[in-house]
Amino acid sequence: MKPRHFLSLLDLSPAELKQLIARARELKALLKRGELHRPLVGKTMAMIFEKSSTRTRVSFETGMAQLGGASLFLSPRDTHLDRGEPVEDTARVLSRMVDVIVIRANSHAMVERFAAHSQVPVINALTDLHHPCQLLADMQTFIELCGDIAGKKAAWIGDGNNVCHSWMQAAKQFGFSLNIAIPKGYEPNASLVAACRDHVTLLQDPKQAARAADVVVTDTWASMGQEHEKAERTKAFAGFMVDAALMKLAKPNAVFMHCLPAYRGAEVAAEVIDGPQSVVWDEAENRLHAQKALLEFLLVGNKK
Ligand code: CP
Ligand code: NVA
Repeated sequence: MKPRHFLSLLDLSPAELKQLIARARELKALLKRGELHRPLVGKTMAMIFEKSSTRTRVSFETGMAQLGGASLFLSPRDTHLDRGEPVEDTARVLSRMVDVIVIRANSHAMVERFAAHSQVPVINALTDLHHPCQLLADMQTFIELCGDIAGKKAAWIGDGNNVCHSWMQAAKQFGFSLNIAIPKGYEPNASLVAACRDHVTLLQDPKQAARAADVVVTDTWASMGQEHEKAERTKAFAGFMVDAALMKLAKPNAVFMHCLPAYRGAEVAAEVIDGPQSVVWDEAENRLHAQKALLEFLLVGNKK
């Protein structure tokens, strides 16, 4: 039987996603009560990271330890991946030894090739196209703090990047509307937009996007691998900083989200990210709980 993978938010049904968020909240409560929950004793998770990470790496490793399993961190430099061993062969070999494989890769196509040859679930820990694990945590955070997100209005201000793509897919799967304000030339992938078109509106004016929003979200203007474009991007994104004036246009109880790492004074003003509407630390913490629910779902099935 083919394993279930989690390469994008479309790999789980809306009902499965909803259940997964509910389970993440239960696992969070269990942990806070100090109760041990170890359904993954004897299981091993391999983690292949081609790019840097603080949150994703630590939350996956900590989560796996809390669930009773073990993890192996594999930098491509220390395996044969960087010496030309085919991705397909690496997938065949690793998946005969470990129970789940988490990959952060430059190219989404690489993760798809890997998953196609893996006997065990593969989880996308960020690619150039998607960051679905981030959105599990973001949806958990919104739902915990503000209630159901279905029918609500979100505003994405900034780059049409991997995190933006996952927000678009979240809009479709969780049933909210997403206004995206992006400077010309930095729009999200057109075919991904088309697949979510009932839930996504592309704009060029941050003010128009933020008006009456329940959540305002942004991300760095220069993602990993785009550092050399930083100066040019800083120019192109002038006027796209999320500041207090922009937040005033959103609903009074709107929250501000950012996947982190953040650059104060660029995509977000310090007064916003460090202000009362910011929920970025809850988002970061919820990476742990949401990914534990994902590991449990993929390795032992639905817990309800
Ligand atoms: N938000 C996020 O994925 O952070 P890291 O790059 O630190 O993992
Ligand atoms: N868009 C950013 C997200 C980092 C978590 C990047 O890809 O670098």
